Amino acid sequence: MSPTPVVHGIVLSGDEKDASLAERNTHATRVAGKGVDPEKKALFASVTKRIDYSPKLGTELHGIKLAQLTDQQAEELAAFISERGVVFFRDQDDLDNKEHVRLGRRWGPLHVHPFVPHNQQDPEIIVLDSRISPPTRFNTNDSWHSDVSFEPAPASYSILKFEEIPESGGNTIWSNGYELYDDLSQPIKTLLEGLTATHSSDIFKLLVQTSGRKTFGQLNDSVHPVIRTNPVTGWKSVFINPVFTREINGVTPAESKWILDYLGDLIVKKLQYQVRFNWEKNSVAIWDNRSNYHTGVPDFKPYHRRGVRVTVSGEIPYYDPNSGTQAKAWEATANAIIAKQEAAEKAKADAEANNSAKTA
Ligand SMILES: [Fe+2]
Repeated sequence: MSPTPVVHGIVLSGDEKDASLAERNTHATRVAGKGVDPEKKALFASVTKRIDYSPKLGTELHGIKLAQLTDQQAEELAAFISERGVVFFRDQDDLDNKEHVRLGRRWGPLHVHPFVPHNQQDPEIIVLDSRISPPTRFNTNDSWHSDVSFEPAPASYSILKFEEIPESGGNTIWSNGYELYDDLSQPIKTLLEGLTATHSSDIFKLLVQTSGRKTFGQLNDSVHPVIRTNPVTGWKSVFINPVFTREINGVTPAESKWILDYLGDLIVKKLQYQVRFNWEKNSVAIWDNRSNYHTGVPDFKPYHRRGVRVTVSGEIPYYDPNSGTQAKAWEATANAIIAKQEAAEKAKADAEANNSAKTA
């Protein structure tokens, strides 16, 4: 007799009723966040504090209640997440399941995961509970990924909230796919811009075999461009990942392995591409899967954690050779910072010169 598919309100496995839930997944028909006010004044009117984790990736915003965003703020937030890669919020206790789903739906159709357990009432809410899925399936270096890239329309945004956190450990790390692209040499960029990769759900197929659990729908494989345009920022990024990318198409197996190993190594090892988030209870992270990677740090045993995630389906991935880059956009930001620093230094020198003249 098969084990019960529901434990503590979490549906662990498909049955006749919901064996085709994931078949309803579709792609976004509009790009949330595209064309908003570049200064995002409506959003920042509510922000009381901004902490950038690094110049190009990751920002923590204070003063925002995700359950209370206006439509305009939600649009501007989508754009801000696409620019910053990942955005963090604390104390989102009022973002309950209903509001969590409502927030995701503002940005696109919600994805139902074909294998990961979900909340009994809301199949769009997947449950990451270390009691049910211990973080031992992958080692850290192999677990870097963007969410559900095996789908024809992979995730745009993932909205993850932790309701229970370990006493210590259990951080999540993100790595910047825009910067990964920008730092490649031109010959390698040119090579990769002409390639596609097959992303597979092989890992879940294996888990189906080993666990005996049934899926909530088809486990897809999809072909996507290796260099992808983010439709919100218009910037290029590398779009492969160590968990779901099975092979680079149109090259030999050895060449495919070389390309994937090389890019995977950069994702894992380049510390300057990464930021690390220390979760608190009711913290929320929202990231843009189109242009960055993440991994959980499996260091928190014997503690436990329980998180809930809503995943928004994005567009069918595409590559536009005329796209911009984060590096180019960053030049303008960096120049403005330099001009501000120089003005401050000049003002300080002028003030010191004035003081000297007065005391002379
Ligand atoms: Fe993930």
